[in-house]
Amino acid sequence: MVRKAVLPVAGLGTRFLPATKAVPKEMMPLVDRPAIQYIVEECVRAGLDDVLLVTGSGKGEIEDHFDRRLDLEAALADKGKQDELTAVRDLAHLAQIHSIRQGEPLGLGHAVLMAAGHVAAEESFAVLLGDDIIDPHEPFLERMLEAHDRTGRPVVALMEVPSDQVHLYGVADVEPGERDGEFLVHRLVEKPPVDEAPSNLIVVGRYVLPGAIFDVLHETPPGRGDEIQLTDALQTMAADEPIIGIRLDAERYDTGDKLGFLKATVQIAAQREDLGKEFLEWLRAWIEEREA
Ligand code: G1P
Repeated sequence: MVRKAVLPVAGLGTRFLPATKAVPKEMMPLVDRPAIQYIVEECVRAGLDDVLLVTGSGKGEIEDHFDRRLDLEAALADKGKQDELTAVRDLAHLAQIHSIRQGEPLGLGHAVLMAAGHVAAEESFAVLLGDDIIDPHEPFLERMLEAHDRTGRPVVALMEVPSDQVHLYGVADVEPGERDGEFLVHRLVEKPPVDEAPSNLIVVGRYVLPGAIFDVLHETPPGRGDEIQLTDALQTMAADEPIIGIRLDAERYDTGDKLGFLKATVQIAAQREDLGKEFLEWLRAWIEEREA
């Protein structure tokens, strides 16, 4: 049973400056929760209640968010604000949150390697990248965990993108697997130029990995961008025996990108029971007014 999740959150968030100058990008709110909370909630829904944050300097607010805040709790209790009190207090019990510092930004593979002291060599774990928010109504991570349980192989999330975007991602060379939406991945290339991309199936920020990846990462030299790439370590494993790819059939937003962030905000707001109806009515009217 996989119980642990590793969340690399050391990135600088340069695409969102100046907003991310003093606030970690993972703390940017989508409606009323920071982006990282959606990721931790996704872990918990899938049964992963042990979450390791791989952080860097200036990321302390993320840990604070998942900790108790007794002065605020007392103030809310005094004012009789029970719902707010529950929301604030429950966050501290959502999962067991641990953290470790990456120290130097040496790549995603290096960030994952930081988990080697927390995850046993024979234990499997999930990696979730904070920029990718997946529709909370879809049990996609659960599907990946099931595929890992069944095959014992590393599992990556795959998604089709237009060819002009493949250079931004890890790209997979695949053949159909034994189930619908499942692939055998023979090869992975990190951010190839379009003419060297084996397909337009890219790796989205969800992975289920066996502890054996740590030994492979130890031996993986710096690759693209002179960084230790998780994609390269997975390529080493895929060269031995295909790994598993699962097509992401749920909505996914790249919240590290301004447009993706806006889309995620709109969709999450529209789905909210307390806000959705009124928000959509306003949005419709706003668009109609502009089109008139
Ligand atoms: C990372 C991975 C890349 C993957 C992407 C998904 O890249 O290295 O293989 O496709 O996440 O979002 P990054 O976006 O951190 O540069």
